[in-house]
Amino acid sequence: MGSDDGPVIGTSPRSHGDPRRSPTASPGAHTSQYGDRPATAAWTDRAILAGSAYRDGQALSARQALYRWLNPQRDPAGIVAARAAAHLMQEPHGRTWPRRSPAPAPLADPGATGPGGASGPAAGHEPRPCVLDVGAGNGLYTRRLHADHPELQVAALDISARILRDVPRPVLVADAAHLPVADGSVSVVLAMHMLYHLADPDAGIGELARVLAPGGLVAVSTNHSRDKHELDELWQAAARDVLGTTQVPARVSLSSRFPLEAAADRLREHFTDLELIDLGGVIEIPEPRPVVAHLASYRAWADQMGVPFAAVIDQAARRLAEHLDRYGTFTITSRVGMVMGKRPR
Ligand SMILES: C[S@@+](CC[C@H](N)C(=O)[O-])C[C@H]1O[C@@H](n2cnc3c(N)ncnc32)[C@H](O)[C@@H]1O
Repeated sequence: MGSDDGPVIGTSPRSHGDPRRSPTASPGAHTSQYGDRPATAAWTDRAILAGSAYRDGQALSARQALYRWLNPQRDPAGIVAARAAAHLMQEPHGRTWPRRSPAPAPLADPGATGPGGASGPAAGHEPRPCVLDVGAGNGLYTRRLHADHPELQVAALDISARILRDVPRPVLVADAAHLPVADGSVSVVLAMHMLYHLADPDAGIGELARVLAPGGLVAVSTNHSRDKHELDELWQAAARDVLGTTQVPARVSLSSRFPLEAAADRLREHFTDLELIDLGGVIEIPEPRPVVAHLASYRAWADQMGVPFAAVIDQAARRLAEHLDRYGTFTITSRVGMVMGKRPR
């Protein structure tokens, strides 16, 4: 642990002073070093994703938990549910589809499908959900859609069977790179914080466009490459302490493969009427546990990090405790956003 008078978290060459007093990041100043490493294949490895990183909802819940302290409070799931319902009210096929089509076929039993295995519908049973939540995870968006708009037909899809276990049915265990859904058959498609897990995120965007009906609504969310930069600084300071060197690997940055600042441009090839919705804010946390749990939630990729993962987590916890003793809270700048668009008619 450093004994300097500066912030206990430590500063990297990209840091901008006391994170408690200077929560605002400088836009565009950061490019991820990690994105260029060969290890990035691990961020898209289906066996790691389904068998470890998202084997259940634990790691995802640890990341979602930080937003409890976000100011201003954001409600991305509420925004999506309201916009999806409004869109379906305007779309003739959206309004009539749930009533005209038969109930969706039993799409998949997550318990019956191995990790990464695609279990599509039985022949002759074309799934025709109005809303398809791709990479649904623990169902944050699917649940809200069901709760706020029970009149809508919503299907959740994920590569991980286990994470879908408690998600409202119907669910589909499949790969977003090859959606087992007919062309133009979905009215609203979501890909929330998941495109960065695809080997080819742009091909994944093409796949979203393929399944969406003309005029259909797409919603995609991700993080800016400077999102939560204070966590990067904390991680690197701890890694420097542990390794005893000044040059240490950067923390995992999944979203650098599909960062918010590039998202609208990357959607433009397939979608129009693009709209960026800011979901950012300042997270001020008075206790260490949620921050440490967030850092530890990347354990599935510990082998790729180039540091002794557990030791760095422990050291980060010590730095954090010291910081909280001195300043009372730890400030994290959240730079998250959502892009919505329409498939041209
Ligand atoms: C960061 S979580 C986001 C979960 C949810 N959309 C949310 O925003 O709360 C990413 C999810 O995408 C899923 N995923 C990753 N790669 C996938 C793929 N190729 N096909 C389908 N789902 C995938 C993961 O299993 C995980 O549940």
